[in-house]
Amino acid sequence: MTASPRPLVAGNWKMNGLKAQLKELAAMATAYDSALRTKVDLLICPPATLAPLAAHTALGSHIAIGAQDCHAKASGAHTGDISAEMLADAGLTHVIVGHSERRADHGETDAVVRAKAIAAKRAGLVAIVCVGETEAQRRAGETLDVVGAQLDGSVPAGFSARELVLAYEPIWAIGTGLTPTTADVAVVHAFIRTRLGKLLGTDGASVRILYGGSVKASNAAELMVVPDVNGALVGGASLTAADFMGIAAVYR
Ligand code: PGA
Repeated sequence: MTASPRPLVAGNWKMNGLKAQLKELAAMATAYDSALRTKVDLLICPPATLAPLAAHTALGSHIAIGAQDCHAKASGAHTGDISAEMLADAGLTHVIVGHSERRADHGETDAVVRAKAIAAKRAGLVAIVCVGETEAQRRAGETLDVVGAQLDGSVPAGFSARELVLAYEPIWAIGTGLTPTTADVAVVHAFIRTRLGKLLGTDGASVRILYGGSVKASNAAELMVVPDVNGALVGGASLTAADFMGIAAVYR
């Protein structure tokens, strides 16, 4: 029996935050005391404009700073894009790839997401690969088929648990205040665990699988104890230190 992976609570600030927002990160750093540090890893993914400043703000706090996307190539004529190497150079350690908003707004396919995950590994970043079904797919009973296909298409072979985090985010739960039942979360996370084993071998057992979609301090306690839920990917509730640290505190 493998020990449970160490939990990770990750915040995705999306397209939110001017410089003043960094005071929330500073407050998170203060609240992330040595006792909590033994229990849970914390990560904040600010918009790219704030990333180097955020890395500086978080210095010495043990809060990791990540990005929300990267390009698959290391450099070149790709106006407006940012490579994984540039993110690493700016002091970041993680990058979210294949968030449903990127898949929807920018037409990112599983193949594109996979290429970005490979780029992350190439640059020494941890890739956080996101998967999740739409409301229509859930209603049609297609959740596991959809998530299975996304995993097969987006998770590159040969990744270790140090290089990959998986995030299950039902699209209908993102930003809506709706969450699946804990029983439904358990079914999908168990399915993902099994599929990661097929894709990655023994490493699949220790890849962290985060749940994301309307996680708040008020529902984190019940969601975070679901088997194979190894933390959370948090959007709206990661924007303030009080909300975000309230979620992290379930691991105290
Ligand atoms: P939410 O977003 O917590 O605001 O629902 C989650 C996400 O998109 O990662």
